[in-house]
Amino acid sequence: MPNALIVLAAGRGTRMQSDMPKVLHEVAGAPLLVHALGSASELEAERVVIVTGHGAEAVEALDLGEHVEFVRQDEQLGTGHAVQQAKAALEAHEGPVFVVYGDTPFIEPATLADMAKALDNASLAVLGFEAADPGRYGRLVTDGEKLEKIVEWKDASDEERAITLCNSGVLAGESGLVFDLLDEVTNDNAAGEYYLTDLPAIAASRGLVSRVVRCDEAETMGVNSRSDLAAASAAFQTRARAAALEAGVTMDAPETVYFAYDTLLGRDCLVEPNVVFGPDVTVETGARIRAFSHLEGCHVSRGAIVGPYARLRPGAELAEDVRVGNFVEIKNAEVAEGAKVNHLSYIGDAAVGAGANIGAGTITCNYDGVMKHRTEIGKGAFIGSNTMLVAPVSVGDEAMTASGSVITSNVPDGDLAVARTRQENKSGLARRLMARLREIKRSR
Ligand code: UD1
Ligand code: MG
Repeated sequence: MPNALIVLAAGRGTRMQSDMPKVLHEVAGAPLLVHALGSASELEAERVVIVTGHGAEAVEALDLGEHVEFVRQDEQLGTGHAVQQAKAALEAHEGPVFVVYGDTPFIEPATLADMAKALDNASLAVLGFEAADPGRYGRLVTDGEKLEKIVEWKDASDEERAITLCNSGVLAGESGLVFDLLDEVTNDNAAGEYYLTDLPAIAASRGLVSRVVRCDEAETMGVNSRSDLAAASAAFQTRARAAALEAGVTMDAPETVYFAYDTLLGRDCLVEPNVVFGPDVTVETGARIRAFSHLEGCHVSRGAIVGPYARLRPGAELAEDVRVGNFVEIKNAEVAEGAKVNHLSYIGDAAVGAGANIGAGTITCNYDGVMKHRTEIGKGAFIGSNTMLVAPVSVGDEAMTASGSVITSNVPDGDLAVARTRQENKSGLARRLMARLREIKRSR
């Protein structure tokens, strides 16, 4: 039976103190909501319904793929009420439905897969955890293997509050049954809300069994404030660093390296301290990323060396054995095998041929104030230091530019372009000039 997923994302998130909806705040370069969807990857949900409310328009503007649909919860009357908003959308769905929260980013895909298995011999499955500090979490009241009911903290007796097995908020059951049980939920409780957590007790009253699937408390970490967000980021980085080391990446100071949610580093990569990976970076086996470099939206091939102090921006494609040195910025440019851009350069909207050497201070002048233009540099070309390449322009294979040139027209293969004023030496003029200046100063 195909699975469906409902993500609750209507809450205000007051404690974030933000104009932006909570689920759009990012951890490791991806919104919380995207992390929450990632948790469900093993379910291969056929239908994904996101319940929006506060900041709905901004949330709905995310590009989450074609199979994701949004429904609105105009008034936030509780988690049960929120799930009910997905009823019409899932009317035709036959199979289990899973409810997760958009502000809970770290539930493991394997955990939701365990819940799917639990439904083989239970009507409902609820994800629980042993809480170090149970605080105000809902408590799971069990009888042996069975979950009798969930009691919200506000409604719990002292005896129930002593329970340390808590509700994560994730619940699963056959779609038809879940919506049918929800029809029986009232708001007759301390909060005056329609609780999703009433479902196990209503199921039990019909003789249906609910079960608890347990996970580690760390997975259930929710984000309610900026300090929670910082803690979530720290937790993500801790795991990402450990995973990279485990996968064969060398890092002397992993605690100073920052990963994005989708960073991919091959075996035997070496990452020096203080490197930041933004989204969409792949680094192939054996490449070396030197200290204080910043990479996003780029690809670094085998044997390449980047940095120290390099910046690779979206569309930077470095082929094998390329060298990119200090204070070099590369954007939307392919740098072919073995090419070198070692010092103080900007290479944007360009192609650099194999084995080319780009001298210090070279700039591709790609922007005319309105439009962007491309620069093509041929194989084995030698670009002299401080060359300005005013795009659109090309420099041919094995061509050269003289240092300090401003190149405004194409350079054919094998030619040397000199585009600067010719030097003239005035015989003895320096000495005469200095003598005159000193004389002026003395006479004052
Ligand atoms: C809920 C559970 C509690 C559990 C805890 C875990 C209920 C009644 N209680 O409590 O048992 O221990 O989560 O964190 O379910 N939301 C909506 N619309 C609403 C209400 C909430 O979309 O009308 C969303 C919120 O944005 C949030 C999630 O549902 O992402 C949970 O809501 P929240 O108010 O945080 O529930 P808790 O009181 O924490
Ligand atoms: Mg909460």
